[in-house]
Amino acid sequence: MNSELEDEKIMMDWTCYSHSYDLMAENNPAYQEILDCYAKTISQLNLNTSSVVADIGGGTGNFSIMTAKVYPDCRVLYYDFNSTMLRFAKDKAVKEGIRNIEFGIHDFDLCPSNSQKFSLIVCIHSIYTMKNPLGLIKLIYEMLSPGGHVFACDLGRTLNIMDWTKYIFSSLRGTHGMVHALKILLKGREVARANYDISKLQKSGQFWLHELDDFIYAFTNCGFEIGEAKKMYRGYSDLVFAQKPMLKGN
Ligand SMILES: C[S@@+](CC[C@H](N)C(=O)[O-])C[C@H]1O[C@@H](n2cnc3c(N)ncnc32)[C@H](O)[C@@H]1O
Repeated sequence: MNSELEDEKIMMDWTCYSHSYDLMAENNPAYQEILDCYAKTISQLNLNTSSVVADIGGGTGNFSIMTAKVYPDCRVLYYDFNSTMLRFAKDKAVKEGIRNIEFGIHDFDLCPSNSQKFSLIVCIHSIYTMKNPLGLIKLIYEMLSPGGHVFACDLGRTLNIMDWTKYIFSSLRGTHGMVHALKILLKGREVARANYDISKLQKSGQFWLHELDDFIYAFTNCGFEIGEAKKMYRGYSDLVFAQKPMLKGN
């Protein structure tokens, strides 16, 4: 590791980020695109009432809530290791009257998971933060039932803060006007701070950097069959939608 970065002892403060996370999510069209793509993709799966869905590193719950809306009769199990993220997610679900999400604290760096098998696992912008990202992809394979799907979108390239600030500002100015755009940007300065920490951790090698081909390989190497793979989040992230093969004879 770069000694200058080691001296700085950067730690990702997910608790601090949780307070401004949804301000980023609501005002970032590139994030909304992932959410839309997820909703369209999963609505074609025709999950039944016995299906169980996991959201790994669920953050403020946007993907769990979307899953619960598309499939109100399925169980959705939300997992995150940060209790403040979980609280934001739970409060939002309660406000929206959603009852089919179960919230759990779980650190995927420390222990695998229970023996529950899932029909679908969603993992957005969390894999790259784990101590063993390839291990997590293997674990996702094990957690799925045969024929189960994974929808994973993961930040692979180093965040360029100036590039994102300009992008968000120009999108905000288009919808809210200059003054309001500046106000939102100021209110969301914790987002820029969090992104700065993420970029430092990426540069120091503590957060996984990958290209689309590496990301696809990580899934095929475990046995997944790729349904769709593309860059998202303005080319910063990689998306894989893949299936664990059915058991032979099915
Ligand atoms: C960038 S946020 C993404 C949140 C959400 N998936 C979304 O896209 O809105 C990453 C999340 O992963 C969680 N996380 C990071 N490492 C984790 C671990 N080892 N186990 C469980 N959750 C983890 C963080 O607490 C944070 O909520």
